[in-house]
Amino acid sequence: MAQHVTEFGRDGRPSEPDGRLDAAAFHRNHQPIWAVLEKYLGGRTGDVLEAGSGTGQHVVHFARHSPGITWWPSDLNEAHLKSIAAWRAMAGLPNIRPPQRIDLADPDWSISPVEGHAPGKLLAIFCANVIHIAPWRVAEGLVAGAARHLREDGRLFLYGPFKRDGHHTAISNAVFDTSLRSQDPDWGVRDIADVTRLVEREGLQLAGTFEMPANNLILMFERTGAPSA
Ligand SMILES: C[S@@+](CC[C@H](N)C(=O)[O-])C[C@H]1O[C@@H](n2cnc3c(N)ncnc32)[C@H](O)[C@@H]1O
Repeated sequence: MAQHVTEFGRDGRPSEPDGRLDAAAFHRNHQPIWAVLEKYLGGRTGDVLEAGSGTGQHVVHFARHSPGITWWPSDLNEAHLKSIAAWRAMAGLPNIRPPQRIDLADPDWSISPVEGHAPGKLLAIFCANVIHIAPWRVAEGLVAGAARHLREDGRLFLYGPFKRDGHHTAISNAVFDTSLRSQDPDWGVRDIADVTRLVEREGLQLAGTFEMPANNLILMFERTGAPSA
């Protein structure tokens, strides 16, 4: 069954003394995710926000493979922010900014300058496993912010389980959806059509759907009429 961790460190996995948390799913999904992102971000330059970074393991992996990109990790949860900072410190990479608190439910969220650096308009936003473990207004806030902060050729990447045309793509996702909704009726596996309608209202469009292991997908969105990049 799909993993369902809203707060790492409370799932029984030990954390390191410096606050580094470990997500079991990271070990299974980081390489397939980067294999997709690399097609669009490999060799590029610019600023990329990771929204809902969780432990911070993904951003370190991606930053290691994209030295021309400055990565901006973020989350809402204090323990996660501490974990991201600790993974960042351990990696010692120059292209990861300190993590910052961004609440995607705030429709006006923005990225704060850190250590004297402010991001430019974003090359991309990457957000994994967030919008189904959060109320729909988090998806709305994420997409509204993407419309504000992405460059003309910028892209939004969403990773996670999704329904297609109202149907789950796997029994395991249906079971996962039921468990999410039993915890909070505002949570749940989202339908590609609903997410696409939402992004279209903000001037973006679905530009790619990528099959991932464990019945997950990456949905890639770009601005309507965006220049090819
Ligand atoms: C299941 S975890 C996924 C973490 C990471 N992206 C990954 O795939 O391992 C969901 C993350 O979303 C964050 N989150 C939940 N609600 C949020 C919100 N309103 N704004 C920003 N992050 C949020 C949680 O703190 C958590 O780190």
